[in-house]
Amino acid sequence: MNELDFGGKQVLVVGGSSGIGNGIAQAFRTRGARVHVCGTRASAKDYSPEEGSHLDGLDYARLDVSDPQAIENFKPSFDRLDVLVLAQGAVIYRRGEFEMDGFRKVLEVNLMSLMACAGKFHGMLSTANGSLIIVSSTAAYHSTKGNPAYNASKTGAMGLTRTLGQAWAEDGIRVNGIAPGLVDTKMTRVTTSNPKRLEGAIGRIPLKRLGTPDDMAGAALFLASPLSSYIVGQTLIVDGGLIL
Ligand SMILES: NC(=O)c1ccc[n+]([C@@H]2O[C@H](COP(=O)([O-])OP(=O)(O)OC[C@H]3O[C@@H](n4cnc5c(N)ncnc54)[C@H](OP(=O)(O)O)[C@@H]3O)[C@@H](O)[C@H]2O)c1
Repeated sequence: MNELDFGGKQVLVVGGSSGIGNGIAQAFRTRGARVHVCGTRASAKDYSPEEGSHLDGLDYARLDVSDPQAIENFKPSFDRLDVLVLAQGAVIYRRGEFEMDGFRKVLEVNLMSLMACAGKFHGMLSTANGSLIIVSSTAAYHSTKGNPAYNASKTGAMGLTRTLGQAWAEDGIRVNGIAPGLVDTKMTRVTTSNPKRLEGAIGRIPLKRLGTPDDMAGAALFLASPLSSYIVGQTLIVDGGLIL
């Protein structure tokens, strides 16, 4: 038996249009799953590989999770779901998260929408004895001076993972999470496009390289597979040793 064969499974990755979510989506697809992804833009054509978006073979639909009504109204093109990955995330730089507008916006995308999406697909996941995987961040383990909203949202995401893990185990849904360290995506360009910052960042990572969406996908495949059948409510740190 190949526990990492997802043939016949349906997967939805919210935030699967680029970066980590996209890497996770493609990893499930290459292992046989039918994979649906959501992002903010009108169509798949609006994304490019240079931004970390590889949408070949994925079913794309627009869903802006900063709007709770849009989540409620979202009509999925499937009626069965085995794996839900919530990888959506936003950050505001230049002290924007110290203003309440910015703080609310980030909390809406990074935390409120997790509960809204999880709740929306609870029925389908329960019917399929499925898995929910929440992408938080190593930011949940330490302060991030310029980003109070990002930090609070990711700490909240980890708590939500724990609590839904406990609450939904009896519904047949295994809920777990991934806390990435520093991964090369469009979100981290602010660090990776600046040679000095990049060098400093890599210097602090014991494995001496940035993480890749593929590195994160390994953890997601494991958490959605029977290999992790007795793991519930945990958030796996996948950071090359960054926060050791
Ligand atoms: N990169 C890192 O170092 C790192 C570290 C720790 C945690 N994370 C977390 O990993 C997750 C993925 O981030 P990433 O690094 O892969 O960045 P990314 O490439 O910018 O991906 C973010 C994803 O979230 C989607 N998204 C953002 N705002 C949204 C909204 N309002 N509605 C729906 N979707 C929305 C994006 O859609 P569009 O493509 O349409 O913008 C994209 O699919 C996030 O939760 C992030 O916080 C990243």
